[in-house]
Amino acid sequence: MRIVDLITKKRDHYSLTDHELVQLIDDYTNDRIPDYQMAAFLMAVYLNGMSYQETAALTLAMANSGATIDLSGIPGIKVDKHSTGGVADTTTLILAPLVAAAGVPVAKMSGRGLGFTGGTIDKLESIPGFRTTLAHHEFIANVKRHQLAITGQSIDVAPADGKIYALRDVTATVESIPLIASSIMSKKIAAGADKILLDVKVGSGAFMKDLGAAVELAETMVKIGEIVGRDTKAILTSMEEPLGLAIGNSLEVKEAIDVLSGSYQGDLREVCLILGSHMLQLAGVAQDVKAGYQVLQQLLDQGIALKKFTEFIQAQGGISKVTDQPDLMPQATYCEDIVSLATGYVQKIDVAKVGYIATILGAGREYKGQSIDLTAGILMRCRIGDFIRDNQPLATFYGNDYGKFTEASKLLQQSIIIGNTAVTKPKLILGFVDKNGFTQI
Ligand code: URA
Ligand code: CA
Repeated sequence: MRIVDLITKKRDHYSLTDHELVQLIDDYTNDRIPDYQMAAFLMAVYLNGMSYQETAALTLAMANSGATIDLSGIPGIKVDKHSTGGVADTTTLILAPLVAAAGVPVAKMSGRGLGFTGGTIDKLESIPGFRTTLAHHEFIANVKRHQLAITGQSIDVAPADGKIYALRDVTATVESIPLIASSIMSKKIAAGADKILLDVKVGSGAFMKDLGAAVELAETMVKIGEIVGRDTKAILTSMEEPLGLAIGNSLEVKEAIDVLSGSYQGDLREVCLILGSHMLQLAGVAQDVKAGYQVLQQLLDQGIALKKFTEFIQAQGGISKVTDQPDLMPQATYCEDIVSLATGYVQKIDVAKVGYIATILGAGREYKGQSIDLTAGILMRCRIGDFIRDNQPLATFYGNDYGKFTEASKLLQQSIIIGNTAVTKPKLILGFVDKNGFTQI
């Protein structure tokens, strides 16, 4: 089989067989296919699409392109959660201890942040002493003992995806539903969970700007899950404004602690309760989503979820007192309110730009391996629909490099649009996709 024949097939709208896709991914991963041929193939997929069967075969080939994690030694149904990427999206730090407290084993492999989205591993490193690299046996033992462990990637999960993603990035082939779906699902499958819950973000701050495209992506991933035998469900949630108020590593850990202690009401808590209730249902721990929701509410309000978080921090070597005293995390040298220059309603927030501003302040990296300032970031002080007076704070900046505040503050003023007419808040939960298709809420 020559690669040029596969490119021709896809160019001419034919479907590739499972065998051809396995060969393609295997050869590319092992440097037997040059980038220019893979780039031509990816563009053909971008233009002509792929059937569900092809997308599932591509996904499995990518999942099997490196080592896979075996979680079968852990009793119970392991449910992994994945978010397609947002800003102030601290859901993993909250959901992991929350569903673990409800009896769902959580064996999570997480990554570092890149660009304007944060990564769980960076966030956890703001807890003094916390170890983010666990040996495989320790990772499994901790899940068995505490129902919860989170580790950085010790192995290169789905290496084909890393290589293909880098090529897509420079060949204008990122925005393709079969390519995004196979990229996400291959990593989840390789990470070993029995079932997968996807949080597909919709809106100006997300990959998928409108509901139609988000539903199509969600349906494709749910279908892949069905074909490869990993039950998958997707919840569509809004990314028209930062989900929580905190953007930045230690700031987000502090916000997670607030949610876990039950003292925080708001969109971040609500999304966690919704996602968590579906995880409980997938794991068979709750009869239905409504029952799961009630259980999780109690675990938050009675402080049980926070206790689980404390236990988890201790188990991975961190200072567990941090859940009582978040100030034990590193503190920024500088902190400044950015005030509104106008009076009116918050009509629109440019989420991607706000994420970028946090990166300027030092919270994120622009290239892989760059060091970051764990104290840096933004605490948002307004949400869409709020009435704001002139001189009232829109946000508070944190960081150790005060020289960056001026540029960041100019950009923040541009990212929050204030106008005279009242606007309604965007809907937070838009619907879900399972084997039966899309249900709008
Ligand atoms: N996230 C991924 O992991 N892959 C994509 O292709 C897009 C978003
Ligand atoms: Ca993330």
